[in-house]
Formats: sequence, structure tokens, C-alpha cells
Amino acid sequence: MVFYSKKICCIGGGYVGGPTMSVIAKYCPNIEVNVVDINKDRIKSWNSEDLNNLPIYEPGLKEIIGKYRGVNLHFSCDLELKISEADIIFISVNTPTKKKGIGAGQAIDLKWVDKSARQIAKYANGHTIVIEKSTLPVRTAETIKEILEKSPRTKENITSFSILSNPEFLAEGTAIKDLENPDRVLIGGEDKNAIKLLTNIYENWVDKKKILTTDLWSSELSKLIANAFLAQRISSINSISSICEKTGANIKNVTKAVGMDKRIGNKFLNVSPGFGGSCFKKDILNLIYISNHYGLKDVSKFWEQVIKINDWQQNRISHLVVKKLFGTISSKKIAILGFAFKANTNDSRESPAIQICKNLLEEGANIQIYDPKVNINQIAKDLECPQDQNIENQDQNGSWNYSNSLIDATKGADAILILTEWEEFKLINWKEISKNMRFPCWLFDARLITNSAEAKANGINVWCIGQGEI
Ligand code: NAD
Ligand code: UGA
Repeated sequence: MVFYSKKICCIGGGYVGGPTMSVIAKYCPNIEVNVVDINKDRIKSWNSEDLNNLPIYEPGLKEIIGKYRGVNLHFSCDLELKISEADIIFISVNTPTKKKGIGAGQAIDLKWVDKSARQIAKYANGHTIVIEKSTLPVRTAETIKEILEKSPRTKENITSFSILSNPEFLAEGTAIKDLENPDRVLIGGEDKNAIKLLTNIYENWVDKKKILTTDLWSSELSKLIANAFLAQRISSINSISSICEKTGANIKNVTKAVGMDKRIGNKFLNVSPGFGGSCFKKDILNLIYISNHYGLKDVSKFWEQVIKINDWQQNRISHLVVKKLFGTISSKKIAILGFAFKANTNDSRESPAIQICKNLLEEGANIQIYDPKVNINQIAKDLECPQDQNIENQDQNGSWNYSNSLIDATKGADAILILTEWEEFKLINWKEISKNMRFPCWLFDARLITNSAEAKANGINVWCIGQGEI
């Protein structure tokens, strides 16, 4: 029997829990890592023999799972047992925006965190370190502490808790790389021993200098602010893309010139149809909610604008498609290349493609969607409509279909709209594609990634974000 120095339980086996725990298991062979989830299907997929069927796609993930699953990395639905055995528990559950009730549309829905805390209180055994891995409103640790300390227990032995905040900064598509080589690891808390223990775990693969320890509230808030700053940069550059299109300036040149200033830096300045993903919008909404809560109206208005520009960018792209296609796209075939919110992920949460496709459907288009990783069921869920069904909107009907390939999606298309920066779209052979399109036709490159000059040379009308019609 293997002796493990510590046992970890992670509540929530999603985009964060799965990869994060896999990396801990990889670098800490003396720790038993258990990922638990209430979603049985998800756990079944994490345990699936075919590593191509894992619930999430991340480059490098299946190799780690293949090597450590069943060794010191386990996935199960047995919350009671795994919580009771754990020395350290990560809470890595979803924290979406509240849909109804107080703070609806802005505040974070803490019901999954609340439930996790109650499960921990009920089943934990002995001294347990509870770590906030989910992104949470500042001062949530206070709530967790109260639930842990005051909830009824099933165990007779005395249980005590230390709470730490250890937010996650990984980005999807590069999760393993980010986890293995993070810019920093942030640990907030009061209990020095607990902080030391968690620091020791990370020191198995992260340079000491990158491990930052703070108080709880600064740690919780820093996570929200990092996301807010990143999203703000995207809205800034996206707002400038429209000025470039109006004035004849080229966004590529502007970005390069601005980004070469070391104080500004060149990262996160890629123009796009808007930021997506499960977190930027909800974290900024939460920041707006917190600002209003503390009476900081001007602060909340500042951050509101970041979201407004993001919505505006998505809507202006779909309006532009209609305008360029002679003011009507009714029954016209539009190929959507890319549905994921960014490349290298199967995640479409808050993807700009959703709103853009909905707008095009409202205008009566027949859209043909191709994405290398997002599946048909997910798209149907996002568009709130099964494929091939007409969407009634006054007199107009739109419909969508799923394509298995780029070639299939673009056959007979009046327009191609690139929404995700998949590698495959960078390499499109426009000579071949143009042969099967219906002329006059358009390419709209909303990621500025494809060889637009080649498309133009093959008779396709071309519009590029931040450049306009070329
Ligand atoms: P997710 O929805 O992919 O996964 C959350 C999982 O928690 C789900 O599988 C759900 O079934 C499970 N769960 C919920 N309540 C549970 C309970 N009581 N017991 C057991 N399992 C439970 O979410 P995610 O993308 O992994 O995000 C998790 C947190 O991490 C969020 O707070 C998010 O803001 C933050 N975060 C996400 C990312 C990212 O790239 N997705 C990056 C950094 C931080
Ligand atoms: C983001 C942050 O980058 C992570 O640090 C953070 O941990 C995570 O949110 C989270 O808290 O969930 P993620 O959403 O996975 O990660 O992906 P990003 O690479 O940040 O991209 C977010 C969105 O912004 C995507 O839609 C992407 O296409 C867009 N983007 C990104 C741009 O439009 N331009 C850019 O220059 C960069």
C-alpha cells in the first residue's frame, strides 16, 4: 500500500478543478488527489478509457491524466468519503452571475459555494484546510468560515478549519502551460501553518519567488481585478478597431506601435469580435455590483463601459454583415468559422459567436457553423434552438446547420465570417474555397488571422476588423 503524506479533495471537476488537480498530482507523487463532482456524467468522462472523451479539451491534459489517473489522481462522486479523508479541500465550483433575486444580472450566485461549505462542514474529519479556488466576491471567506463553524456535523470528533484563498489564473487553451509555469501563485490567509503547507505543495514545481502571500481580502479581490484589467484592455483595443476602420488607420500597425511602449506592453491587444469565456463578464459584473454596494457609482460606471463596448462590438459585426450583403441576408448562406470563445478549447461559454449568430438568425440567414472542438449539442443549447429549425422572427426565418469541416461549411456560401482564431483558419486555401462560394461573396475576418490578400485576389470581397474593406 502506498503511503500518502497528505490527501487533497477538490470539490468541482470543471475547467479549473480538473486541470489544476492533474498538475498537482503530477508534481506531488506523495499526495493523493481526489476530484469530486455532483455531475455523474462529468465524472464518468473524466474516468473514460478513451482519453479523447475527457469532459474538457486542453492541450497536454490527456497525457497527464493518462499517466496519473488511478495512481495518485482519482475522480469520483463520493463526496462524503473524499471530504472526510482529506487534509486539504479545494472549492472549485462554478460561480456564475445570479439570474434572479437580489443582485440579479450582476452579483455572483454563491449557491454552489454555500452548498460546498455545508458539505465540508458535515463530512470533514479532523483539522482541515479549506481553500477557495473559485473566483469569489471579496470577503466570501467570511461567509465560508461562518458556515463551516456553525453548521451541524455528523462526526463526533472535533473538526477545525483554516481558510485560504488561492485563486486560479489559468487561461483555457493554455491551462497546463499556465499551471506548470504560472506568472504567480497567490495565497491569501491568516493561518501561517496552512499557508506554509500550501506553499510547500506549489514549491514542488513553482519558483519560490513567484509564490505571493497576502491577506485574504487582497487575494480575493486581486483575482477579480486581474480579470477586469485584462478585459478592459480588450475593450480598449476593440473600441479603437472601429476608429481605424473609419479613418484608414490599420489596427495591426497601431497595436504594434502602442504595444512597443514597455509601460503598455504588447500582450492582450489582439482585436476581436469581443471577449468571451465564463469569467470576464461575470467578474466585471461582480465588480460593478461590489462598487455599487459600497456607493461607488462612478467606479461602477467605469467598469460598465467595458461590458458595453464588448456587446457593441458583437452587434456591430453582425450589422455590418447585413449591410455589406445589400441590406438583407434572408435565406443567404453564411459560414461561421469558429464557435468557441477562443482557440484550443471546446468551451463556448459567453462566446461572441453566440450573440452574432443569434443576430444573423434574426435577420433570416441560413448559417452553417464549423468549429473543430465545439459539438452540435452545445451549439444548439447556446443558440437556444435545434439545428435546421426555422427561427420565427416576424416575417423572417433563419436556420442553422452544423458542419463537420471547413470545406463543407463554406460550400455555396454568400459570406464567411471568422470568429475564432483556430490555426486551421490561418491556413485556408482561398483559391480552393472561392471556387465553391456563391458570387458576389464576402469574407469577414473578425480575428485578423487569415490570408485576406489571397481571398481578395480570388475575387472575394474582404472586410477585416480594424482595417475595414480591403
Ligand atoms: P465549471 O462549471 O467547469 O466546473 C464547476 C464544477 O463544479 C461543475 O462540474 C459542477 O458540477 C461542480 N459542482 C458544483 N457544485 C458542486 C458541489 N456542491 N459538489 C460537487 N461538485 C459541484 O467551472 P470552472 O470553469 O471550472 O470554474 C470554476 C471556478 O473557477 C469559477 O469560480 C471560475 O470563475 C473560476 N475560474 C475559472 C477559470 C476558467 O478558465 N474556466 C479560470 C480561473 C478561475
Ligand atoms: C481569462 C484570463 O486570461 C485568466 O487569467 C483567468 O484565470 C480566466 O479568464 C478566468 O478567470 O476564467 P480565459 O477566459 O480562459 O482566461 O481566456 P483568455 O485568453 O483570457 O481570453 C478571454 C477572451 O478574450 C477570449 O474570448 C479571447 O478571444 C479574448 N481576447 C483575448 C481578445 O479578444 N484579445 C486578446 O488580445 C486576448
